[in-house]
Amino acid sequence: MGELNLILLGPPGAGKGTQAELLRSEFQIPHISTGDMLRQAVAEQSELGELASSFMDAGNLVPDEVIIGLLLEALARSDARDGFLLDGFPRTIPQAEALGADLGKVGRKLTGVLLIEAPDEEIVRRISGRRVNPASGRIYHVEYDPPKVEGIDDVDGTELVQREDDKPETIRNRLAVYHEQTAPLADYYDNLGLLHRFDGSAAPAEVFTHIRATIATLKLEETI
Ligand code: AP5
Repeated sequence: MGELNLILLGPPGAGKGTQAELLRSEFQIPHISTGDMLRQAVAEQSELGELASSFMDAGNLVPDEVIIGLLLEALARSDARDGFLLDGFPRTIPQAEALGADLGKVGRKLTGVLLIEAPDEEIVRRISGRRVNPASGRIYHVEYDPPKVEGIDDVDGTELVQREDDKPETIRNRLAVYHEQTAPLADYYDNLGLLHRFDGSAAPAEVFTHIRATIATLKLEETI
């Protein structure tokens, strides 16, 4: 059977990370999140982390020349050789072109691009209420998906935190950056016949049902 090489695209807070967790357990595809990789680098206070944190905390994109190399290295690792789910990459046209060229060099191609859409006001509500487990990346929402005990991860008891870039003043800039630099990727992938749109304002389980059905069709097409 052909490999599943998927991209999750969408504005901040649309539910990419939430759906990625569900997809990873259903399809056993390695989940590669550039946001998680950068947050780990920041936590480790590595050179990359020091560079990235000023961009991330302001809600701006980390420069293409930094992120492209990081992502291509992750893709070359053995667990991503039979398929991958990219979350947060690409975010600019140059990133999309670099990815396409890199896959083409080794005779691979994208299977599909899953665009999760949600209105700006809903996004602000979601991001302001998001709480995360900094170690595992597990995601909660104080209202929509609260943990059993306030502020504590259900699975391992870790104290949940609010991401630095989830502060109200940063959210608006992240949205503006998305509309200006990342939204054009929808047309880019639509023109390549790869785009699938999903209404992210539905409940997570419902969004997942639609995405799962699309992936099942893509898998079937790969086998024909
Ligand atoms: P990144 O970590 O990729 O953040 P993002 O794209 O802004 O996306 P988020 O993680 O904020 O949201 P999400 O869509 O995953 O939503 P979630 O599922 O958590 O990037 C962070 C930063 O890193 C960037 O700003 C940039 O600086 C840098 N960066 C990363 N990649 C880069 C790149 N390629 N190039 C340059 N810079 C890069 O859901 C949000 C909340 O809503 C949660 O609380 C969740 O519980 C809740 N929720 C989810 N779905 C639903 C639903 N259907 N109904 C109700 N609530 C829901």
